[in-house]
Parts: sequence; C-alpha cells; structure tokens
Amino acid sequence: MEGLIALSDVEDAVIVPDVAPHAEAYERDIERVLITEAEIQQKLRELGDRITKDYVGKDLLLIGVLKGAFVVMADLARYIRLPAETDFMAVASYGAATKTSGVVRILKDLDHDLEGRDVLLVEDIVDSGLTLNYLLKNLRGRRPHSLEVCALLKKTGIQRVHLDVRYVGFEIPPDFVVGYGLDFAEKFRNLPYIATLKPEAYANT
Ligand code: IMP
Ligand code: MG
Repeated sequence: MEGLIALSDVEDAVIVPDVAPHAEAYERDIERVLITEAEIQQKLRELGDRITKDYVGKDLLLIGVLKGAFVVMADLARYIRLPAETDFMAVASYGAATKTSGVVRILKDLDHDLEGRDVLLVEDIVDSGLTLNYLLKNLRGRRPHSLEVCALLKKTGIQRVHLDVRYVGFEIPPDFVVGYGLDFAEKFRNLPYIATLKPEAYANT
C-alpha cells in the first residue's frame, strides 16, 4: 500500500532515539546528544500533567516566543488536556547577535488581548534571562489575571536577573545547545533532541 506507513516502520523510527534518520546531514556537526527525544517527550508529558491540574477551570492562553519555542509549544500544547488558546510573539534582541543585551524588539505582537486571561508563556530556553525578564514586564503591563512561565531548558547559574519560572523541563550546563527548536545560524531547529555541536561546526558556517 504505497503512501501508507506501516506500524513497524513507526516503531523502528522511535527505537533510533539519538540521531533521527531524516537528519543525517547534521550528524557530522553533532558532538553529544544531551537530552534524547524520548526524554524530552516524557518530561513534556509530566509538565503537561502539572499544567492540566493547575489550570482546571481557568482561561488558559499559551504564548510561544518565536522562533525557538514553536517546537516545544506544538508538543506541550497536546499534553495539556484542557481547552486552551494559543498565540505567538516574535522578538529580537538589540545588539550583537551572540549576546543578549536585554533590550528586546517586538517583531510580531500578540493577536490576543491579555486582560483577565491566565497566560502561560512558553519558552525554549532561559539563558541570561534578560529576554524573558523584558517580556514578562511587557506582558504584565497588559493586565492578565495570571502570568507564569514554562521553559523546556534552563541554563544553571548564569541568569543575570531573578526569574520565577514555574515550570522547568531540564536544568543544563551553560553550554550552547541546538535542536528541538534551538538553532545555530538558523539550522538544527528540526532535530528532535537537544545536542551540543563540535567546534568545527561553528567554523563551517
Ligand atoms: P536570554 O535572553 O539570554 O535568556 O536568551 C534569549 C534567547 O537566546 C533564547 O530564547 C534563545 O533563542 C537564545 N539562546 C540562548 N541560549 C541558547 C543556546 O544554547 N542555543 C540556542 N539558542 C540559545
Ligand atoms: Mg527563544
């Protein structure tokens, strides 16, 4: 039956956890898989369960911060077993490309009005925390009923501001990582796992 995927094929695909077959061209750049696809999905399932319990009867609006959060948003939203609306914001940091300055430019604003809503901001990673800090201030000014953050990753010990992130997937060392939405020079976002890159990979681009 052409065009149909056999169940055995799907199982095979899941059994190869570390390097997805569709991403062979990325393999030579990957140094180490830090978090596998299965570990990410398991963690998001747990976060989805917690969020489901915490938001029963509330007016949940999920806000993803583009571009990085588009992958975590898509999976997390399906582990939340409640009615929820989704919206996205795109931001860019002013200043040098590799360092967050803390001053954020809004490239795409929300379609929703936040007043009275229970807002959950979904982030891929909290690094210095400056982007998130700016966003939270901005969003608080729109008078939501509640405002919390869910971040798949948080780098340990390098936040330059105090941030209350209610839902954190994994604490990771402060190294540069790619995959599962996170990019280096716009690549690697479509890897289903989180990995570090070989030093050559930075030079190649
Ligand atoms: P922050 O303002 O320093 O917390 O980080 C802002 C943004 O930088 C994140 O939302 C990511 O888009 C990006 N970023 C931070 N660390 C990494 C990384 O290790 N890999 C890829 N992107 C990162
Ligand atoms: Mg981001």
